Amino acid sequence: MTEKVRVKIHKNASAKIEADIIEFEMPDGSIVIKEGKAFICRCVKSSKQPFCDGAHKECKFE
Ligand code: FES
Repeated sequence: MTEKVRVKIHKNASAKIEADIIEFEMPDGSIVIKEGKAFICRCVKSSKQPFCDGAHKECKFE
């Protein structure tokens, strides 16, 4: 794999992954495809793990 992938860590929030196609293999083996960007939860409060749902705003993640 040679494509460049950019990951931006947002202060007190998610990590943003940028790439044309982002493929996630979930714990149950299913595949989730995101195009362009994906936001990964770092605060562990999201109800849509592993993706950010904005819950970090409520839990005041630092
Ligand atoms: S970082 Fe956004 S919900 Fe966890």
